[in-house]
Amino acid sequence: MICESDNKLNPKFESIKINGRCSLQGQIRISGAKNSALVLLAASLLTKDKVYLTNIPDLSDIRKMKNILKSIGVKIENCNREKIIINSENLHLGNIPHNLVHELRASFFCIGPLLSKLGQASLALPGGCNIGKRPIEEHIKGLQELGATIEEKDGFVNARINNNRRRLKGTHIRLGCPSVGATETLIMAAVLAEGKTIISNAAREPEIQDLCEMLNKMGAKIRRAGTSKIFIEGVKYLNGCSHEVIPDRIEAGTFLIAAAATLSSITISPVIPSHLNSLLQKLKESGSEIIIKNNSISIKTEKIKGVNIETAPFPGFPTDLQAPFTALMLKATGKSIIKETIFENRMNHIELLKKMGASINLENNIATVSGVKKLSGRNLKGSDLRSTAAIVIAALTADNSSLVEGLEHLDRGYEDFEFKLKKLGADIKRDLTRNISNNSYNDDYFMNEVQKIYAA
Ligand code: UD1
Repeated sequence: MICESDNKLNPKFESIKINGRCSLQGQIRISGAKNSALVLLAASLLTKDKVYLTNIPDLSDIRKMKNILKSIGVKIENCNREKIIINSENLHLGNIPHNLVHELRASFFCIGPLLSKLGQASLALPGGCNIGKRPIEEHIKGLQELGATIEEKDGFVNARINNNRRRLKGTHIRLGCPSVGATETLIMAAVLAEGKTIISNAAREPEIQDLCEMLNKMGAKIRRAGTSKIFIEGVKYLNGCSHEVIPDRIEAGTFLIAAAATLSSITISPVIPSHLNSLLQKLKESGSEIIIKNNSISIKTEKIKGVNIETAPFPGFPTDLQAPFTALMLKATGKSIIKETIFENRMNHIELLKKMGASINLENNIATVSGVKKLSGRNLKGSDLRSTAAIVIAALTADNSSLVEGLEHLDRGYEDFEFKLKKLGADIKRDLTRNISNNSYNDDYFMNEVQKIYAA
């Protein structure tokens, strides 16, 4: 197996220096959606034909997923930076490297296709971002209902189709919660099952729509009725197809928030504006002017008013934008209440933002932010993907410079993040050698605090 390597230098030892008081202007291109690309890569296992995927973002999570697929016999040809051809003709059970599975929760997506194509699968329990418990009981329960026997042993999930049958069997599954990952796992398991499957209380995120569209191009029969019910009529085999990954709504949202926080005007494209409705509504409420033209969004911000947000499954406010939006509220006029309802530990950025002078009271995943006039640049280490983005946004608005570590998280989900910010005029630079522990900003007391927060 030829693995794709990550950056030559380890982003764990890199930092970005950001000079504050920044103003952004201009236009940037939004990359393909990480969360779509990951599941579409797994869905490509469902056919022996070639699958052509375009608009694949160049991210460390995607490189890990490609390496996972290669470890089970899949050939991946990189045509250019954003286009790949996947050939799963020689799919086998293989030995998926544990470290990749532990680092990437999306690795678990392979279980549905492996069960459908090979009748069995064995995967280490998945890992992912440091944002709290991320159970998989909805995935397991649904697969069992589709006719799989599943046992968890020594950190592995071993699955096989019951009674030596060749196909899973369609059924009615009602999810206990509208889990995005479980909905995707069960769709991929059910498309090749015998008979009809209904998934009720399914998640409605745009990435699920993207998955269904690609599978239907491959010959699957998936229909969505109303909102949270998915009807699948199993087929015997699927064909290859060409599919373009949808634009990343979370990357798009992060840049809109960065523009608002720095009182700037920027344009982003391509985007699917309806995927961003809940954020756009909150940005307008907080004082930004938003102009939508076809697949582009322009934002102009001259003031920031405090507004409240509460995360919710799509079409509600995305949990992935909660941390960046909190960074926007730091210098708002008045108070804002930010409530995280999806993940139990997605407030890692709060303590770090307070180190910059933010006034935030955090109780039970509810952050009450009182706007302040000024933030001070500090040396900070992000502990998960979106909290690191939040720190970068706060650093752009601070009075002096900051050094941000935790880039291994940022590189999981944002393609060319600092390059795009630089293009918009930010004074930002990745330092490949210096990190917080050996630079002149070092403050031992503060670093001890940060280490504690990072470890928590
Ligand atoms: C996906 C996204 C992630 C996003 C999240 C919510 C990917 C690769 N990641 O993650 O960026 O933040 O959706 O929009 O697409 N839960 C259970 N039991 C289960 C499964 C989930 O209780 O079996 C709970 C989780 O603990 C969490 C909530 O449901 O509290 C949402 O999780 P889920 O929708 O599954 O998120 P992911 O698919 O992991």
